[in-house]
Amino acid sequence: MIATSCKNKEELQKNYEKMIQRYEALKSEGLKLDMSRGKPSKLQLDLVSDMLGVLVDHAQCIVDGCDSRNYGELAGLKCAREYWAELLGCKPSQTFVGGNASLNLMYDVISKAYTHGLTDSPRPWCREEKVKFLCPAPGYDRHFRITQSFGFELIAVEMTPDGPDMDTVERLVQDPAVKGIWCVPKYSNPQGYTYSEDTVNRFANLKPAAPDFTIMWDNAYCIHEFVGEFEPFPDIISLCEAAGRPNMVYEFASTSKVTFPGAGISVMATSEANIAYQTKLLGVQTISYDKVNQLRHVRYLKDKAHTLELMKKHAAIMAPKFEMVVRMLKEELSGQNIAQWHTPKGGYFVCVAAMPGTAKRTLELCKEAGVTMTEAGATHPYGIDPQDSMIRIAPSLPPIAELEKAMQVFCTCLQLAAWEKMLQD
Ligand SMILES: Cc1ncc(COP(=O)(O)O)c(C=O)c1O
Repeated sequence: MIATSCKNKEELQKNYEKMIQRYEALKSEGLKLDMSRGKPSKLQLDLVSDMLGVLVDHAQCIVDGCDSRNYGELAGLKCAREYWAELLGCKPSQTFVGGNASLNLMYDVISKAYTHGLTDSPRPWCREEKVKFLCPAPGYDRHFRITQSFGFELIAVEMTPDGPDMDTVERLVQDPAVKGIWCVPKYSNPQGYTYSEDTVNRFANLKPAAPDFTIMWDNAYCIHEFVGEFEPFPDIISLCEAAGRPNMVYEFASTSKVTFPGAGISVMATSEANIAYQTKLLGVQTISYDKVNQLRHVRYLKDKAHTLELMKKHAAIMAPKFEMVVRMLKEELSGQNIAQWHTPKGGYFVCVAAMPGTAKRTLELCKEAGVTMTEAGATHPYGIDPQDSMIRIAPSLPPIAELEKAMQVFCTCLQLAAWEKMLQD
């Protein structure tokens, strides 16, 4: 339980008044700072902009006998499928290389399930009286919004440092109306947790009541270490196959935070049967994806080893920002019992669990002082954090000096909100 370390209310009141002065001083600076979304910084975009110079020669556009400039190869260029297979540790035949965003492929899988059904059950989800979807929370708001937009009931599952609470997941999947779960297995958004081996194995060995239960395995941060070496991760596709449910999982990734967000390439990796099924359905909505961009990416990124080298350069830009965020959280907030956080080694976020009942107020104060953050509640299904506690910090975009100022504002606001509440209570 959170309690004040101040000896008495008077002392708390004095500290609060001092903090108000600090807040007013920061506010008068007329700041306009943004820590709301996980976007790479300009430095990171500049780092990879040589890619724009690849494919200048007509002859370079032809690969393995295929002209990337023309229609065809709906599941992606052979070299692009090989590239992703090496990165994810699966087979090229288990990959489908799409367009500029993995979120699109995720949306499509849910949408096809809704309108046409999935490989193991052609009964479309729209025919079900109720579809429920598991949402590990805190989690990624855009995942939750996809399943909310189809009218599914979203069920929050608590996140632990080892991944979603698997006892709860195993219990909930006994309900045939539960059709799937969102997962970010490595450097989860927003807490930066990596699922333990046990969690991954329990996922692969799930025995859900619904035959078309689907694990949406969004491996968005699979190569995004900013501290230490690349950490290998298990291939969920072969694990599900070995456990006897090869069609239960769809894995996703993209180069959004390797090259250009919104102008990268994406992948869906799953069983060959699922690839065949989805390719048929996707072939109705498009003739082929942007293979010129696929080839540009493969020529530039080359292979896994070369890509991991590039990720080290991203890490050199990212690490000081995360260090600063964590250092400021420690300096300003530790020992007061008003906030907790995990120090991630990769991904794009730091998640602060503020004193329950103070997240909204903290962000309201930040906004008034010119600092934009991801809305309180965004980390939970329906945008409602029942504890009003989780706050996502996205340190990647601002230059370090701006980030330091934004963190000063944030820590000031969080303390103000906590002390305000303690004084009221
Ligand atoms: C977990 C997660 N998945 C997916 C995305 C978006 O990926 P894409 O640009 O490939 O759609 C993000 C972006 O922040 C993310 O955090």
